[in-house]
Amino acid sequence: MHELGGARYLATGETLPGAVLDDLHRVDAVLFGAIGHPDVKPGILEKGILLRTRFELEQYINLRPVKLYRAQDCPLKDKGPEHIDFIVVRENNEGLYAGAGGNLFKGTPAEVAVQESINTRRGVDRCLKYAFELAKRQRGGKPWKGLKPEDTSAGKTTQLTLCGKTNVLTYAFDLWWRGFQEMAPGYPTVKTDYAHVDAICMWFVKNPEWFDVIVTDNMFGDIITDLAAMIQGGLGVAAGGNINPDGTSMFEPMGGSAPKYTGQNVINPIAAINAAGLMLDFLGEKQAGAAIETAVVNIINTKIKSLAAGRMGYGTREVGDLVASLV
Ligand code: IPM
Ligand code: MG
Repeated sequence: MHELGGARYLATGETLPGAVLDDLHRVDAVLFGAIGHPDVKPGILEKGILLRTRFELEQYINLRPVKLYRAQDCPLKDKGPEHIDFIVVRENNEGLYAGAGGNLFKGTPAEVAVQESINTRRGVDRCLKYAFELAKRQRGGKPWKGLKPEDTSAGKTTQLTLCGKTNVLTYAFDLWWRGFQEMAPGYPTVKTDYAHVDAICMWFVKNPEWFDVIVTDNMFGDIITDLAAMIQGGLGVAAGGNINPDGTSMFEPMGGSAPKYTGQNVINPIAAINAAGLMLDFLGEKQAGAAIETAVVNIINTKIKSLAAGRMGYGTREVGDLVASLV
């Protein structure tokens, strides 16, 4: 275990020391706790720890399953677990997160700020390939469920939607679109679809049942997965994985930390528990991963009043113990 985060930074000035990074290179998986600190300027921990790990360990996929466990936790009218069950494959090493850009005449009225989106053929293709392979595996046997009413494609198993903005970002998403089109024939059982990112935001609210696997760039993936987290019951349950299929992957609760609740035993631990479940599944411990999910679903359905911090009807530790008692 390594203690990283705001407290260490404030005490020593270190974010991610080289020796820790070396250690991470040597393992298959990392379980990442929530970091963030009210006394640390925004950007320092995010860039210095989370993003740096994603980049240095080449975790080029950010995988975010979106699954609603109980209808009452969904803010959408008339939507239940049968409508919200999809997975977002977010590119995790490039795009606007690559850090390309700069300033001219900083602090003057003539200031220029440039932030460029980097999209490489290799980076786009490996992300698309991961998404197509995931869709081909039918997300672990989940059957084709019809999706949009007009979809009748016989023999298809899963829908893969490319989420972009081809009508405006005519360089970056032209590359994504061509890569998507070129790869599709290699996956005859995967039904392909395309949606602009703004339209996806509408449909997450109106017709989330249309989606199965979604692939998108880093920035759009960041944004749509926060919306997706809300329709699956909130940051108390949303977890994700930063995947390097050939190296070290890292699993995390999606929401970061909530400093105002420090030490109060009120935070929902399920997002962190789900991250551990995803990690086990990724490591090939399918049964263990499934046992965690089953336990979580059971506890949510039988015990937990609300998924929100302070309103669960139990404390953080008690929820953890309840889940553990069923695993
Ligand atoms: C996420 C977070 C991070 C991101 C932040 C904390 C840098 O929002 O994992 O989605 O933007 O990727
Ligand atoms: Mg985010």
